[in-house]
Amino acid sequence: MGGVVIYLSSGLCLLFLLFVIKLLNKIWWTPIRIQSQMRSQGIKGPSYKFFHGNNKEIINMKNEMIMSSSPMELSHQIFPITEPHIYSWIKLYGTNFLMWHGSQAELVVAEPKLIKEIMNNNRSFPKREPREYLKLLGNGLVTTRGEKWLKKRKLAVNAFHAENLKNMIPDMIASVDMMLERWRDYEGKEIDAYREIKVLTSETISRTAFGSCYLEGENIFNMLTKMAYIVAKKKYKLEIPGIGKLLKTNDDIESDKLERDIRDSIIKVVKKRESNVLTGEAESYGNDLLGILMRAYHSADETQKISLDDLIDECKTFYVAGTDTTASLLSWTIFLLAIHSDWQDKARKEVLELLGQQNPSADNISRLNIVGMIINETLRLYPPFVVFVREVKKEVKLGDLIVPANVDVTIPVIAVHHDPQIWGEDFHLYKPERFAQGVPKATSNNMAAFLPFGLGPRTCVGFNFTIIEAKIALSMILRRYKFTLSPNYVHSPVPRITLCPQHGIQVMLRALFINKLWWNPIWTQSQMRSQGIKGPSYKFIHGNTKEIINMTNEIMSSPMELTHQIFPRVYPHVYSWIKLYGTNFLMWNGLQPQLVVAEPDLIKEILNDKDRAYPKREPTNFIKKFLGDGLVTTQGEKWFKQRKLANHAFHVETLKVLTSEIISRTAFGSSYLEEENIFNMLTKLAFFISKNEYKVRIPLIGKLVKTRDNTKSDKVEQDIQDSVIKIVENREKNVITGEVDSYGDDLLGALMMAYHDVDVNQKISLDDLIDECKTFYVAAQETMASVLSWTVLLLTTHNNWQDKARKEVQELFGQQSPNAGNI
Ligand code: HEM
Repeated sequence: MGGVVIYLSSGLCLLFLLFVIKLLNKIWWTPIRIQSQMRSQGIKGPSYKFFHGNNKEIINMKNEMIMSSSPMELSHQIFPITEPHIYSWIKLYGTNFLMWHGSQAELVVAEPKLIKEIMNNNRSFPKREPREYLKLLGNGLVTTRGEKWLKKRKLAVNAFHAENLKNMIPDMIASVDMMLERWRDYEGKEIDAYREIKVLTSETISRTAFGSCYLEGENIFNMLTKMAYIVAKKKYKLEIPGIGKLLKTNDDIESDKLERDIRDSIIKVVKKRESNVLTGEAESYGNDLLGILMRAYHSADETQKISLDDLIDECKTFYVAGTDTTASLLSWTIFLLAIHSDWQDKARKEVLELLGQQNPSADNISRLNIVGMIINETLRLYPPFVVFVREVKKEVKLGDLIVPANVDVTIPVIAVHHDPQIWGEDFHLYKPERFAQGVPKATSNNMAAFLPFGLGPRTCVGFNFTIIEAKIALSMILRRYKFTLSPNYVHSPVPRITLCPQHGIQVMLRALFINKLWWNPIWTQSQMRSQGIKGPSYKFIHGNTKEIINMTNEIMSSPMELTHQIFPRVYPHVYSWIKLYGTNFLMWNGLQPQLVVAEPDLIKEILNDKDRAYPKREPTNFIKKFLGDGLVTTQGEKWFKQRKLANHAFHVETLKVLTSEIISRTAFGSSYLEEENIFNMLTKLAFFISKNEYKVRIPLIGKLVKTRDNTKSDKVEQDIQDSVIKIVENREKNVITGEVDSYGDDLLGALMMAYHDVDVNQKISLDDLIDECKTFYVAAQETMASVLSWTVLLLTTHNNWQDKARKEVQELFGQQSPNAGNI
């Protein structure tokens, strides 16, 4: 028994000893050996520290940058900010140096000649095992290696080949349209372009690669974003070999759960498409990336087949690779254009010249050269991936160097892109003109001097996809908006999975003139059409005004026969278009869309306006002059106050006494003749309104340049105001001199009482008083005149009804005047 115990315990001791030796080998002798081997070849670097390597220094330098109390100035010299350790150590130790991620040796290579050698040699310098990215990307195309990589690469190349990309353009346009639709609420305001662009790129990849919309995949995106955050947080955390697998941190537990949930959600997307094929709803898995992956998953040929896990990992990879990267590129492009308005203008000019009012197409996208230069310069200054990593499993030659096994190789793209020896002393300046003659010229044919998309066999498979998406998005934004950087923007580029703006990119959005004249109408029209509301098409600037004026002129040119079918005469356009397009249709008064609603149920809904969604329309300039801001045109609290005054002036008791008076007497206590002048002037204003009803008003221009009618109506408006003031002063004088003892019970009296009220809640201004007077002169005179005139005409042509009415009046009134009782 004792022998067994001794035997067992010495076995355990031996195992422990072996473990300690292995551990020491890993965290002490190997690092020391590699360090001295590299130093002997002239490769220096910060010394290896037991177990930690250089992690503590790296974390301290990064924290110092992030925590720095003063925000970074608006400079593009971001290398010292994003990778401070590489920046300092290149300065200290040279272009290529050795540093330590824990006990893992990392050879940093910033020399383009060597970079080219590494990136082109996928066998000796394969992608490093994914480690921290495994949970995020799985064994997808970005992370996988060997035979599996080759199989997946072929599938992805197939999904993104030229013909397929062409077919994706309408979906890309639709995604940008959706974003610009949201932007309409931000015109003249601040918007976070980064947040918006992230939704855009998610929407685009959802539609193009997975045949769904962003909202359906929103959950997957959210989970992947959380996972990316955990991954970035863990990057420089040390893990003791073996221990990490036994003791789980909170981050590990959360990321395990996220990984399971993401898997379940993707399986749901896959199952949905499978069931569409099974039920016959779709006849194939489709030609997008998901379709191609599903065909490979169901393939009977073992050499083509991929497993369910592969399929899921590939989806994860594309959800991440397809969104974060392009979002980074587009956001920094918008940032750079916001501060370099000269390039923004140049790009817009190119877009307008090439695309005009057309949507981007495969043909015109490829001809957007200035936009292409702008994209390249953004990728140079703000590359989405600031470093790439490879590994060396077996000793290998690199230039004149011998790189020992078990060394990782880091390629600091940002160092190459910001190298003054390659780009000149002005490397930190934004100069898209560097790329005017193309990339080879800009880099003097040095392929490894500009490598935002990598180099060699593992170069980005989504390169063309991204460029097309970025050009479409930029051209559609540029031709609708001008943007400048908001004062709230804080410059802080941080490398997470990709290089992103830590606090977003706040820009001030200004709609371009063309937006108002073209895009907004076109968008509104298509939105209404998609809901079945048709109507005459919007014409540039004029809308349908020319057609309306022509129809009106035509109908008015000949007298009408004596029929009561007046609808085709008074509103010939509405009459024709209801016949053509249905009871409710959309027409255009210049740039203003007008939804014509003739369906009684909808009319009820609009006029009852329970949700206060249909307030009175803001009066046009002429109507304002005509009615002022009086009861008919005003809204909200002011309307409420004025309505109370009018209700009081016209309540039943007052009316009983005043029915026999015309409006001058009832409302203003004077006779028509006294105010004949006001009525005449108002009639003139009414003439200007009807004359200008369908005149196109171009935004802003109307404010700057006055038409003759505008000048004339200004004068009439002033004269009316003077006349009303005279009436008011007259009544005031009567009170002051004691001729009368109050302002009176009529409307003018009620208004004057409110005007002189000491309670600010009741008080109205002189302008309000004048506008209210105008409103009632017009509202009462015009409306009553209309009703009475047509009644007279109808009775003239329908003698039987004239006789019936006369009989009733004679029976009721006899020789008496009408009174409240008999009326
Ligand atoms: C501005 C946008 C983008 C940039 C800067 C970018 C950059 C890169 C880089 C540098 C690599 C190679 C990394 C390495 O060698 O270690 C890469 C690979 C890859 N990219 Fe992109 N990418 C972008 C957009 C996209 C998009 C939109 C997709 C998918 C739709 C995508 C999918 C991939 C995939 C699958 C790989 C792995 C290819 C392989 O290893 O065979 N990328 N990308």
